[in-house]
Amino acid sequence: MEASSGLTTTSESINHSDDGEKYANGVNWDELAFGITPTDSMYTMNCSDGNNFSQGHLIPYGNIELCPSAGILNYGQGLFEGLKATRTEDGRIMLFRPQENALRMKMGAERMCMPSPSVEQFVDAVKQTVLANKRWVPPPGKGSLYIRPLLMGSGSVLNLGPAPEYTLLIYVSPVGNSSPVGNYHKGRASLNLYVEDKLRRATPGGTGGIKSITNYAPVYQAQKQARAKGFSDVLYLDSVTGKNIEEISAANIFIVKDNVISTPALVHGTILPGVTRKSIMEIALDLGYQMEERLIPLEELLEADEAFCTGNSVTVNPIGAVTYDTKRVEYKTGEGTLSQKLYETLTGIQTGRLEDKKGWTLEVN
Ligand code: COI
Repeated sequence: MEASSGLTTTSESINHSDDGEKYANGVNWDELAFGITPTDSMYTMNCSDGNNFSQGHLIPYGNIELCPSAGILNYGQGLFEGLKATRTEDGRIMLFRPQENALRMKMGAERMCMPSPSVEQFVDAVKQTVLANKRWVPPPGKGSLYIRPLLMGSGSVLNLGPAPEYTLLIYVSPVGNSSPVGNYHKGRASLNLYVEDKLRRATPGGTGGIKSITNYAPVYQAQKQARAKGFSDVLYLDSVTGKNIEEISAANIFIVKDNVISTPALVHGTILPGVTRKSIMEIALDLGYQMEERLIPLEELLEADEAFCTGNSVTVNPIGAVTYDTKRVEYKTGEGTLSQKLYETLTGIQTGRLEDKKGWTLEVN
C-alpha cells in the first residue's frame, strides 16, 4: 500500500465570519459575470481508507496543497457539483434542492470508486460554507452565490487504482444572472448553437451521466472550433448512431413542438441528470403541459417551434438558432415563449417571489 498523502492546507481552521457587515466591500454587484471572486472561507472534510467522511471544517479560502501523485491529478478521480444560494427580497438566503446534488454526488462517487459524504453531511457542509460567506451572496436580483463542491481522490497513488484518501472541498463565488453558456455573455441572450458531427461527449457505459471532472475538458476542442466560427456553444449527438441529440457542453436540452415539451431520456447513461432539468420537467407537468423524456432525432430539433437549455448555472436559456452542416434553423425566443414562462416560474421559486409549494428551497440564515 502506498503512503497516503492527501490534501493539506496552510491555513488554520476558522469559525463563521459573521462580523455584521451585510455585503462584501469592493464588489460591483451590477457587473458580476460567471467567474471567480475570492471569498472568505471554504469547507474541507476528509476520509481515508475504508472509513467514512467525518469532522469537516471551515478554513480560509485559498490555495491547497496536493501530493504530485494525488489520484485526482494523475487519474482524474474526481467529481464536482454546482448549486446556488440566492438572496430573497426580504433578506433570506435560500438553497435550491441541495439534497439532489448530494444524491447525484453519491451516484457519481459509486461509479468512480470513491466514498461520498452522506446527504446530511453534504447539505450541512454546503450550509456552513454559505453562512461563512454570507456577505458574498449578491443583493436580490443581482445574481447568486455559486457553490462548487469537489469530491476528489486526494491521497497518493502511483499504480492505477482508487486513491487511499478522499477530500470534499467546497468553495463559492458570487456570480451574476448572465448565462455561462456561450461566450459568458451578459444577460440571457439566446444561444446560437453548432451541432457537432464528429467529436462526441459521452458513450453508453461511460461517465457522461455523472459529474466526473473528466467529462469537461474534452468538450473544449469542439467548443473552441465552434466559437471561432461565431457560435455560442456546441450541441452533441449520440455516439452510437450520430442521429439523436444529447447535450450541450454543460447543459441539458429541451425542445417544444405544438406545446409538447421533450428532452432526451437518461436511459443510456450519456446524459447528465440535471437538477434544473428535473425541476423544469416537474414545473412543466404542473403547468399542464405534456412532457416527454425520450430519444430525440436531430430532425425533430430542426423542426421544433422552440428550444432551450437548462442547468444550474444557465438556469433556463433560450436557443435562438441551431446550425447543422450548412442548415441553419431559428426558433422563437423572448416574451410569450414557453421557455420564458418556465424560467420565470423556476426563478420565482428560487428567489422566494413565488410560493414554494414543493419544499424545494432550504433557508440557510
Ligand atoms: C453548473 O451548471 O453548475 C455546471 O456544472 C456548469 C459549469 C461546468 C460551468
